[in-house]
Amino acid sequence: MRQDHPLVPLAGGGYLLSRAADVEAAFTDRRLGNAPSRFSVLAEKNRGQSVAADLCANIPPFLDMPRHADLRRPLSAAFHATFAGSADWLGALAEEELDGQAAEFDVVADFAGPFAARAMARFLGLAADAELMRRSSAALFRLFAPITSRSDLAQADADLARARRAMTPVAGGAGLIAAMAETGAMTDQEIADNAILVLADGIENIEAAVALVLLTLERVPQLRDDWLGGRLGTAEMLPEALRLNSPAQIIPRVVRDGHDRHGIRLEVGTPLFLALGSANLDPDAFDGPEKFDATRADPGRYVFGRGRHSCIGAPLARAMIAAALEALRQRGVGLAGQADRVRYHRRFGHRWPEALPVRLEGARAAG
Ligand code: HEM
Repeated sequence: MRQDHPLVPLAGGGYLLSRAADVEAAFTDRRLGNAPSRFSVLAEKNRGQSVAADLCANIPPFLDMPRHADLRRPLSAAFHATFAGSADWLGALAEEELDGQAAEFDVVADFAGPFAARAMARFLGLAADAELMRRSSAALFRLFAPITSRSDLAQADADLARARRAMTPVAGGAGLIAAMAETGAMTDQEIADNAILVLADGIENIEAAVALVLLTLERVPQLRDDWLGGRLGTAEMLPEALRLNSPAQIIPRVVRDGHDRHGIRLEVGTPLFLALGSANLDPDAFDGPEKFDATRADPGRYVFGRGRHSCIGAPLARAMIAAALEALRQRGVGLAGQADRVRYHRRFGHRWPEALPVRLEGARAAG
């Protein structure tokens, strides 16, 4: 596809960019934007009628300049202030989450998901109500899938209104919500909406990444054995493992200034999708792209995006995934069969395994 179809027309409308060089250029292309087109139910003009549209107008992934910078700057400052020191407690939290697991369990639903939800609650300064975290996160991700009917929109509005009410920090608590307030640059509603965004980004992608890395390791027995035996460090193998199998496969843009690409006219408002997963495996960007090579230069260059909208949470994401994997490694994790029959959530743009059964074979495994 990369060779013959650099720009792929999609049945649902818009085009997909499949080559690494095009994806890379698109990250900083001023002719592309992130704000929903004016025909979308999520367009800013619908703020008064829809919670979903109102929330989109407050969070960076759906904003263009100058409002994008007005929100990204304080969010990013608050994120880095809160992140300093969080690696200290992530390891202990992951260990705790493994204590008491049965000898065989689903690494997504029984471990990585609950671990990520508790970690994000603590990071944000919220009470760790797992069910509430999960529902709030799912509500946000409704916005990243097409909303095609009035009933879809009504459901998204109701779920997001509930999520907004849940973003009340614990009294006197530290964490990202307090740090955002301290910047003095965000309204209470902007703080709550960005808290929902960060919460969601920190749960679904993390639980998926933990499962995807285990699957990648399982496909190369030598690699898995080196990792389990401590000859290949978790932090050392993680960037390359995420390149080979990442939870974020496709990200959207909207054409702001009409232009031609690969001989096709892209009119204003056309959706353009950047296939990060395809860029990650492009032989023009990575020698022998299918091969695991922990010594590659910058394997993560497409995993977390680039430019103005690059992932604010990348250092926390890496720290959370590494903490979860390291806790599993120390207890001798192994897949409990079915690696070739993993089912994925039916979602455009995300690679999220529904479940992955594992067993702990280390001396400390309970069960
Ligand atoms: C494996 C986990 C993760 C992956 C693969 C990932 C990937 C990405 C990618 C590719 C983008 C760029 C989207 C674009 O250019 O439109 C992005 C944006 C973003 N990510 Fe992540 N992410 C992960 C985890 C996290 C975590 C844990 C957080 C927060 C703690 C986070 C917060 C954000 C935010 C706030 C943005 C929006 C930035 C903007 O639009 O200016 N992400 N992420």
